[in-house]
Amino acid sequence: MAEPARTAKRVIGAEHVSDAHQRGRVVIEVLPGDIVTAQAQETAERLKIRLVEGPLEKPAVVRTDGATAMRRTLYRRSPKWVAPPVQQTRAARRITRLALVGAGGVGANIAHLAANADVAEEIVLIDIAPGIAASVALDLNHASGVTRSRARASGGDQLSMVAGAEVIVVTAGRPRSPGMTRADLLDINRRIVRQAAEAIRTHAPNAIVIVVTNPLDEMTVEMLRATGFPRNQVLGMAGTLDSSRFRNALALAAGVPVSDVEAITLGSHGDEMAPITSRARIRGRSLDRFLSEEAIATCVKDAVTGGGQVVALRRTGSAVLAPAHASIELIDHIRGARAGAVPVSVMLEGEYGIDGVVLGVPCHLGASGLVAVEELDLAEAELAALKAAAEAIRGRLGL
Ligand code: 2OP
Repeated sequence: MAEPARTAKRVIGAEHVSDAHQRGRVVIEVLPGDIVTAQAQETAERLKIRLVEGPLEKPAVVRTDGATAMRRTLYRRSPKWVAPPVQQTRAARRITRLALVGAGGVGANIAHLAANADVAEEIVLIDIAPGIAASVALDLNHASGVTRSRARASGGDQLSMVAGAEVIVVTAGRPRSPGMTRADLLDINRRIVRQAAEAIRTHAPNAIVIVVTNPLDEMTVEMLRATGFPRNQVLGMAGTLDSSRFRNALALAAGVPVSDVEAITLGSHGDEMAPITSRARIRGRSLDRFLSEEAIATCVKDAVTGGGQVVALRRTGSAVLAPAHASIELIDHIRGARAGAVPVSVMLEGEYGIDGVVLGVPCHLGASGLVAVEELDLAEAELAALKAAAEAIRGRLGL
C-alpha cells in the first residue's frame, strides 16, 4: 500500500521526547522536514533515546488473536503496566460430612474451626459423655447468626452417628496428666480407639480416618488393625502439630516472624520425634546462618517437649488449640485447599527403609487420604532417628 502523503511537518520538542520515554520507546523517527529543538536533542541524550532519520521500515502487520491484542493494548496504554501473577486456582471442596469422635477440647475446637472456615457442609460431634457433643453442636449453631457459617452441627453419644462421614477425626481418649508420657496412655486409649474403629468399619467403611488420640503412632496402628482399612484411609495427626511447634520455637529464637520459617518434624509423636534441622530454613537460609548450635538444640527440645509443657501448665488435660489447627491442616490437604507434602503418621511399606509400622513422614494427601509418601534426602543422623523411632514404636506395641 502507498504511504499517505505527508501534510504537516512537526516540531519535535523536549515534551515529545519525554512522552516517548514514558511510553517506553527508545527510538524517535525524524521525518524529512521535521524540526528537532535543541532541548529535544538534550533530553533525548539524557534519556538515551535515539533520534533516527526516517522513514523507517515498518514491520509487517502480524495478525493476532484477541487476547494477545488486548494484552498489547493494555501494555501500550501504560509503560508501568505489569502483568498480574498467574493465579493458581485451588478448587477446594467442602467435606460433605465431617464426624468428630470426641467432643472435648480438641474435638470442639476442630468443629469451631471447620465451621468458620467452611470446611464441611455438616459437622457431627460424638462423645460418650452425655450431653457434651450435643451441647457443643448447639453452641456452634447458635454462633452461626454472627459467623454466618453455612455448616450445620449436630451431636450425640452414639458412635453409629459416624455413618456416611467422608472424614472422621478421632480425638476420644484420656489425655495426659503432668508427669505422664503419651506412651503411658497406651492401654486405656487402645480400648477407646478399638470401639471407635468398630463403629467406623461398620457405618463408614469409606471414610478417611484421622487419629489424634495418644499415643498417636500406636493408636494409628490400632485403628488400622481394628478397621482393616488400607493404609491410605488411616492417617495419624502429629507431624503438623509438632512442626508448628518447631517453627514457633525457631521463629522466636531467630527473632523473625514465623512465616519466615520452613521446618518439619518427622518420626514419632513422642520422645523419638525427629525435627529435621538439615532441611529447615529461615528466610530461605540454613538454620546456622541465624542460630548457634545450642540455640538450634534448644528449639528441637522445645518441639519435642511442647505438648508436655502445656500439660504441665494446665494440670488437667493437654493442648487443644494447636492440635485442632494441625488437624484442620490435614483436612485441608484432603479436600484440596492445600497442596504439597505434609508430615503425617502413616503405615510405612518400605519407605525410608522401614516397613510395617506407623511413623511420621512427609505425605501427599487427597480425596482418598494418603496419595504418596515423599522420600526426602535426609542427613544420616536424621534417617537413623527415624529408624530408632520405628523400633521404639514396634517395641511398645510388641510387634
Ligand atoms: C499434644 O502434643 C495432645 O499430643 C497432643 O499436645
